[in-house]
This record gives sequence, structure tokens and C-alpha cells, in this order.
Amino acid sequence: MLEALKEQPADKILSLMAAYRADPRDDKIDLGVGVYKDPQGRTPVMRAVKAAEKRIWERQETKAYTGLAGDPAYCDAMVALVLGGAVARDRVAAVATPGGTGAVRQAVDLVKQAAPGATIWLSNPTWPNHPSIIRHLGMTSAEYRYFDSATGGVDVEGMLEDLRGAAEGDVVLLHGCCHNPTGANLTEAEWDRVIAVLQERGLIPLIDIAYQGFGDGLDADAAATRKVAGAMPESLIAASCSKNFGIYRERTGILMAIARDEGGATLAQGNLNHLNRQNYSFPPDHGARVVATILTDDELRADWQAELEEVRSTMLELRRQLAGELARLTNSDRYAFIAEHRGMFSRLGLPPEIVETLRKDHGVYMVGDSRINIAGLNTDTVPLLAKAIVAAGG
Ligand code: LMR
Repeated sequence: MLEALKEQPADKILSLMAAYRADPRDDKIDLGVGVYKDPQGRTPVMRAVKAAEKRIWERQETKAYTGLAGDPAYCDAMVALVLGGAVARDRVAAVATPGGTGAVRQAVDLVKQAAPGATIWLSNPTWPNHPSIIRHLGMTSAEYRYFDSATGGVDVEGMLEDLRGAAEGDVVLLHGCCHNPTGANLTEAEWDRVIAVLQERGLIPLIDIAYQGFGDGLDADAAATRKVAGAMPESLIAASCSKNFGIYRERTGILMAIARDEGGATLAQGNLNHLNRQNYSFPPDHGARVVATILTDDELRADWQAELEEVRSTMLELRRQLAGELARLTNSDRYAFIAEHRGMFSRLGLPPEIVETLRKDHGVYMVGDSRINIAGLNTDTVPLLAKAIVAAGG
């Protein structure tokens, strides 16, 4: 039987991780997978996470199963963190999931149950796992224009035109903040225009928010998600705690389904619980319990927010430094967008040959579409990267 299997394509982001590890050069620079690194190149366990783990170790008396939706305290705390009261709690169904990826997967599975014929619209480009999960579940996707490589910003007119072509009941996957892979985001006024099209065309938003707190701050980064959820009768929201709590390997995410009313939310909740049961039964609990412990304790929460703010400002400073170095070396403002982008990533707009030269000749690892992880840099490596980009012909 097993010999009948077909080979699967390697994931572009994850195979880059392996290539970087295998490179013997000391001065190599890893700008690949989206993991935060401090200026010393470490991905530390956040202080509040350590403290919460200690508390759980001291106080937890059982490892018996939770409910199918996970720990209710986690779901409540995350609904509040992401939605900030924008929607009545009784309209929101929620389940803990294994990471943000698990939330996206369960969201697509839920769409498949409710509307198997719906097309799921994705930004061009988007995180490569989005189309891959949709394909895997036998659903259909389509692309809307998003990134304008000439400006490094969003092609809003193209985006709106494409979304106007979607059929009623189609699903539109939107990045709540810190767009992955481009780093280019909609302004508040542009979000209003997107919401107007969603309403006009009767589309269902599916918001992927994996980097809350990495762009302009916890509330600012959730503002668009809250606005969409507040304006639409129904929405789906997939959120991740991997990055903002730095608990990547714990696999901690949440899927929220916002229904028209309480009855709709109860029906959605039953379906989400059922999907969890079919796919993996109970969601992982440790990371979720850490998050709930932090979010429900004033002191731990304040310390977590302070550390997250340090992470955010470190990345923002690196963005400014890189844009400045490139402006100086190229004597132009063609890389000014790097300072405008938000989150971990920026797409530089370099052709694949230059990305390849950077890897071969300079030991700089970025994703093939020229996405860089800003957090892979520090103040010493920014000038080296800028020089390498220019030397490679960028
Ligand atoms: C990324 O885009 O690098 C992260 O979301 C990690 C992943 O799973 O791809």
C-alpha cells in the first residue's frame, strides 16, 4: 500500500530551515522561518511564560482530559484579547486548536461542512500553507490581487476589483495584521472599503491573525479584525499564540466562529467540537493553560505585555535601520517600504537569481520570494545585509 503514495513537495519555508542548519559558514544569516530572535540570536522563553509554567507545575492536580473545545478560561481570555468586546460573547463559538495552523485547518473544514461549493479567496501572495490546506481538504481557492511590487504597498484597487468578482457566500481570507509574507497592510480607511465590498457581495471573512502585538501594538493590531467582526453578520477568526507568547512548539491557537445570533453560535460550537473530535479529539492544553494563566493575572499580563512591546520595538528599530542603510547605499528611497511594513516579514521584491546569489555568495537565507524575517537581524548584521543586497544586484 505505502508504495502507492506520491511524493509530496517540500515546504519552502521549512526546507530553508534545514539548508541553513547544514551551512557551515559562521557568518551566515537566517532570515527564513517566522520565529522571533533576540539580538543574540536566541528565541527565549518569555518571562511570563516561565512564571506561568512554574505556577501550573505547582498547582495543577490533574492531567485528565479538558473539554473538546479546550479550557474554557483560555477560550474566554483569547476571545477578549482578539475581539476586545467588539461582538457579544454569546455570538462567538470558539475552540482551542493546535496552533494557528490548526485553527486555519479547522476553519476550512468548517467551511467545507457548511458550504462545500464556496470558493476561498486568498491574497496574492499569501502564506503558502493557506492554499495547501485548502487543496488538501478538496476545497477551491482563488486569488485576489494584494501586493504591489512597484511600491511595496497594497494594490487596494486591484484587491477590491477582484473581491467584487467573488460570488455570494464565498469566503475571503484576510490577514488581520502583519501580512505574511509581504509585511504590507491595509490602512484603516482601506479596511472600511474592504468591509463595504464584503457586505455588498455577501462574503464571509476568514481572518488569520497570527502576529497580534508584533505590528503597532496589541489593540492596534486587532483593530481591523474587531472592525470586520463588528460589521459582518458572520466571520471566522483563526488566531495564534505561537509568536506573541513565543510558545511555537506548544501548538496553541484558537478558532472563533461568529454567528448571527446565539442560536447560530450554539450550532457552530457543536460543529467545532465535533471537528476537534474527528481530527484529534482534545486540543493540546499546556500552551493554552499558560496563555490563560497569563491573561487572567494582572501581574503576569503586564510583564508579558512589556516583553512583547520590547520585541515589537526591536523589530521596528531594525526596520528603520535597514531602510536607512539601503537608502544610503542605493542613494534612493526604493527600499523605504521596509520601514512602513509591519510585523516580522517584508517582501523585498528581489528576483529569484538575486535571492540565490545572496544565499550562495553571502550566506543570507531568505524565502525564495525574497521574504525576510526582520527578527533574524541585529544592529550588527543589518549593514552586512544591506551591503550584500546591493552587491548581489538588488
Ligand atoms: C512562517 O511563515 O515562517 C511561519 O508562519 C512558520 C510556518 O509554519 O511557516
